[in-house]
Amino acid sequence: MSELFSNNESLSAVCAQPELDSSVAMSLPVASPATKPARPLSMRNVIGDSTLMLQLFGMIDRVGRCHSTVLITGESGTGKELVARAVHDNSPRSAGPFVVVNCGAIPEALLESELFGHARGAFTGAHQTRQGRVAAAKGGTLFLDEIGELPLALQVKLLRLLQQHEYSPVGDTRTMAADVRIVAATNKDLESEVAAGMFREDLYYRLNVIHLRVPSLRNRTDDIPALVDHFLVQACKRVGRSALRVSRAAMELLASWSWPGNVRELENTIERSAILCQGETIEPGDLPSRIRGLSAEQRFGTKLPDAGLDLRAAVESFENELIRQALDRTSWNKNRAARLLGLNRTTLVEMLKRKRLSTRAA
Ligand SMILES: Nc1ncnc2c1ncn2[C@@H]1O[C@H](COP(=O)(O)OP(=O)(O)OP(=O)(O)O)[C@@H](O)[C@H]1O
Ligand SMILES: [Mg+2]
Repeated sequence: MSELFSNNESLSAVCAQPELDSSVAMSLPVASPATKPARPLSMRNVIGDSTLMLQLFGMIDRVGRCHSTVLITGESGTGKELVARAVHDNSPRSAGPFVVVNCGAIPEALLESELFGHARGAFTGAHQTRQGRVAAAKGGTLFLDEIGELPLALQVKLLRLLQQHEYSPVGDTRTMAADVRIVAATNKDLESEVAAGMFREDLYYRLNVIHLRVPSLRNRTDDIPALVDHFLVQACKRVGRSALRVSRAAMELLASWSWPGNVRELENTIERSAILCQGETIEPGDLPSRIRGLSAEQRFGTKLPDAGLDLRAAVESFENELIRQALDRTSWNKNRAARLLGLNRTTLVEMLKRKRLSTRAA
């Protein structure tokens, strides 16, 4: 029977210590585990108990209370939109609307009218006056997602909104007062965009009043078990099956993967596993091959060469390769490597001796 993880089990054995994100560390004193700040209720949807996430929650708590513009950056799928909602929920504007505009998803020709609205007859098809999202967000927060995609022509209009709190609808000469707090997000490096002439420097500084960096999942692997539990409960509900558990070996693999797609990739992986898993426990075999560390070809596509082979040598080399991968992935931690291979530590140590694989160079 597999060993299973529970929420309160110590995870330090399986999770690499997260590297401190210097950006967050610069903005806040580094919290030691003993001084971890309490987590505000408005962040209850944002899972994470790692030092980096608690530092981020501390920042959200503080910036929520003011009206300043917030820029959220982070790799794709790290949870920028979730953080933007938490900033809003935690602010004096929480009773007002939270309006999202995805600057990368709306065609350039429509974006200005989408944001600022238009007057009747402003362009072909504008049969009546229409208010934009700035007006719709009155009293609340306007979340400008993928701000790095905002065309240069509109950047100057956004600057006016940020500096003077005013705007004009398309085809209208009137000046309207805006009552919104702007939160913007991007996975682009805006400083490089500024250097490349793609993003206005003055707008960058206006947006960058408060900068929240959402850490990548590979830098906060401590959060993986709690996220897995959270997504598993959601996935089981969604696919209509009873509660599932995750074996220790599967959790080891999930904690070791680099998660280039961050939390979104983890969420999708758990949903997929919940659908494919045939028992009550998610095992390594229920995870995608990239996470198991074996390409489908390596695992299943072994083809007997026409000229035949030396079976013992081939098996030996296959075994050595997997042991080497397990050791590399765990930075030569033999306990963790043994668990990844479904062996006990003594057996692995004996195998390493027998195979003369006892040093990293081997
Ligand atoms: N800390 C978290 N706790 C719970 N769910 C999370 C967390 N972070 C992200 N998610 C979930 O992961 C998914 C991706 O999050 P989100 O859309 O906020 O990411 P993003 O950084 O805006 O991505 P993109 O750059 O692609 O727009 C969402 O379903 C979100 O609910
Ligand atoms: Mg997003």
